[in-house]
Amino acid sequence: MAYGSFRQFVEALDQAGELTRITVPVETDLVISEWANREMKSPEGGKALLFEKPTVDGKPSQFPVAINTMGSRRRMAIALKLNSVEDLAQEIQLILKAKPPTDLREGWSLLKQGLNLLHARPKHAKEGACQEVVHTFDPNQTSNLKPQTSLSDLPILKCWPKDGGRFVTLPNVHTRDPETGARNVGMYRMQVYDGLTTGMHWQVHKVGARHGKRYYERGERMPVAICLGGDPAYTFAATAPLPDGLDEILFAGFIRKKSVELVPCKTIDLEVPGDVDFVLEGYVQPGEMRPEGPFGDHTGFYTAVEDYPVFHLAAITHRRDAIYPTTIVGIPPMEDFYMGDATVRIFLPVFKMNFPELVDMTLPPEGVFHNLVFVSIRKQYPYQAFKVMHGLWGMGQMMFSKYIVVVDEDCDVHNTSEVLFRLCANTDPERDSTIIRNPSDSLDHAPTSQNIGSHMGFDATRKLPGENYHRSWPELLKMTDEAQAIVDALRKR
Ligand SMILES: Cc1cc2nc3c(=O)[nH]c(=O)nc-3n(C[C@H](O)[C@H](O)[C@H](O)COP(=O)(O)O)c2cc1C
Repeated sequence: MAYGSFRQFVEALDQAGELTRITVPVETDLVISEWANREMKSPEGGKALLFEKPTVDGKPSQFPVAINTMGSRRRMAIALKLNSVEDLAQEIQLILKAKPPTDLREGWSLLKQGLNLLHARPKHAKEGACQEVVHTFDPNQTSNLKPQTSLSDLPILKCWPKDGGRFVTLPNVHTRDPETGARNVGMYRMQVYDGLTTGMHWQVHKVGARHGKRYYERGERMPVAICLGGDPAYTFAATAPLPDGLDEILFAGFIRKKSVELVPCKTIDLEVPGDVDFVLEGYVQPGEMRPEGPFGDHTGFYTAVEDYPVFHLAAITHRRDAIYPTTIVGIPPMEDFYMGDATVRIFLPVFKMNFPELVDMTLPPEGVFHNLVFVSIRKQYPYQAFKVMHGLWGMGQMMFSKYIVVVDEDCDVHNTSEVLFRLCANTDPERDSTIIRNPSDSLDHAPTSQNIGSHMGFDATRKLPGENYHRSWPELLKMTDEAQAIVDALRKR
């Protein structure tokens, strides 16, 4: 069954031997970050860390801090209550291939899927555990006044030395399209300016930014609710690149096999999952922008200061025993790699539906999500590798992929040195590469202009007739099965 709270998830990590508790006071300004970075760089992503006594500028915080909770393949599976994320990929594949049952076994299987889908639909309640403690703020209060409990009292990290301040790094940002009423939950970091205001870093290509634009056009104040904690399925869903209009709350309900129970916010007309740890309620005012950053980012570099919308806090509600969840990003590998890796593995069936020739795909950590994609295909006709590249560049956030390398099905895309071997051996750079123009990831500092740039694809597959290769393609070295079996047996002695 689903986690009833973030604390339950942290306890599950503890029971699985995946958690280290830090019982001494540790400062939220850089020190937790340094500790977490070392852990994330350990083999297999180290352990999750629970800082039981974090301090903010030397003062003890009321709330513990959890970090690196999803920073390994095992912890990612525990977060989604799975043995392996491939189980969820298989469920998605079954649904995609669903057809009327032809025997009882198939019928049961379809029924189970149907029930899972029923769980996707959220339920509604009047109040939730996330509202055990409520602090509301007078909207006319100026930002300089310090209310009883404000953002300054949360153990929010300053992650890197030259960061512009403290940043909320795992926020599930809930917004609504004012025209269709469709909900969106995205993860967009928030720089704390003072106790009552933050930045709202939704990049131009993201759904939150599109919703914002609709409000600005109407000249209406935009209600925004930020949830922290709760079932980790919520956080995972917020980061997943779902198509605009596919509700993350529905997806979270499907993943956790239990309907998400939504409760109305106290001060704004939005609903949030009732079991999260913290809710920051507030609004974004049309046209109001403020410099955001610098921030030590996913890219491993500081992202420069840029203007972003401002979030005004109207209320903080929280569980009495809330844990503050956070992460840091930086030079890979970091915790976010495992979140992105799970996304690719879970959505592989969706990619395969679009590209029947696709065998496997991965975004290696060195590429920090968008910079590098390895794809293997079962090639059938000339230029098929190019067709796959162009298709990927047209698919949602895959548009940002800076380098795509396509290899044959017998190459393991999860083995970077094997892919590089094929890339070097199988390509004539001029013949087997293509450069296109496409939108670029906002965080990419390399393109001449922000948000647009060139992307490159390499066809590292063996060449077929018709691919401008006029020699006979050589055979890859492979030992006989017999010789392999003999050596296997001899080495076991
Ligand atoms: C830890 C983490 C932090 C992120 N921070 C941001 C951010 O500040 N701004 C942003 O636009 N995307 C950020 N992302 C990526 C988005 O969450 C991701 O693209 C998501 O699919 C966006 O949702 P949307 O398609 O509903 O807009 C972050 C992802 C992770 C894992």
